[in-house]
Amino acid sequence: MKASLEILPVTPLIGAEVIGIDLSEPLTNHQKNAIHEAFLKHAVLFFRNQDISVEQQKDFGRSFGELHIHPARDRNGLEGHPEILYLNAGPHTSRVNGDEWHSDVSCDEEPPLGSILRLFEVPSNGGDTLFSSMYAAYDALSEAMKELLGKLSAMHDGGPNYIDRAKRAGIYDPTKVFPANPHPVIRTHPETGRKAIFVNKIFTQYIVDIPKDESRAILDFLFQHIAKPDFQCRFKWEKDSVAFWDNRCALHHAMWDYYPETRRGYRVTIKGDKPR
Ligand code: SIN
Repeated sequence: MKASLEILPVTPLIGAEVIGIDLSEPLTNHQKNAIHEAFLKHAVLFFRNQDISVEQQKDFGRSFGELHIHPARDRNGLEGHPEILYLNAGPHTSRVNGDEWHSDVSCDEEPPLGSILRLFEVPSNGGDTLFSSMYAAYDALSEAMKELLGKLSAMHDGGPNYIDRAKRAGIYDPTKVFPANPHPVIRTHPETGRKAIFVNKIFTQYIVDIPKDESRAILDFLFQHIAKPDFQCRFKWEKDSVAFWDNRCALHHAMWDYYPETRRGYRVTIKGDKPR
């Protein structure tokens, strides 16, 4: 009988550290259920000292769903592992992944449920990741604003972000088309039933079916609102830390304050469903 897990909240609104688990071993049903429950409650879970292989990281991801293949993996892929996104920032880097508030690949028709990032090389200081609860951001809105936003959809387009990164990496291919899909501005989490704001700075381009200036004003308000420190926690990485976040109700932002030092890791992403 394995010792039971400890779940230590980082803030009352978002984030928890999971103690007492070795992710290199297959999860027991008890562990899987406890992690799943904590994931739904805290939106992002943190694990320390997980010196796991790529296969073990993929197995951990598969415990929670089918793995996602990234539409821009030609830039950040790992040979032989199409489900892995290789994050590698160093002196050569002109722009890091996730450098603005976002939900991973929200431009997909069925954006990812969650992502699992393990860093195996960290800078001597900095390189934290910030997470923000979109439940808390939604709950903080007035009833009038909730009603208005509840009627709107927004276009999420991967092109501007992925094309800029491909150009910087010298692998821009003008024939390559990236996903672009409209999603509700407020989505209902398919498992918790809670409402969350679902727009982000990297992918959301405009609100559909309203004039441009109204769209700009609403997105400017939302981008400023979702970035309030009130809804956030901040994770300080160590070598072999793992973070597992829920893209349906949390945004994240990777700090790039450690240039020219190196920060490297692998991300596994889990397929999700169509936001409603
Ligand atoms: C990302 O997956 O968006 C990057 C997160 C990070 O590097 O902390």
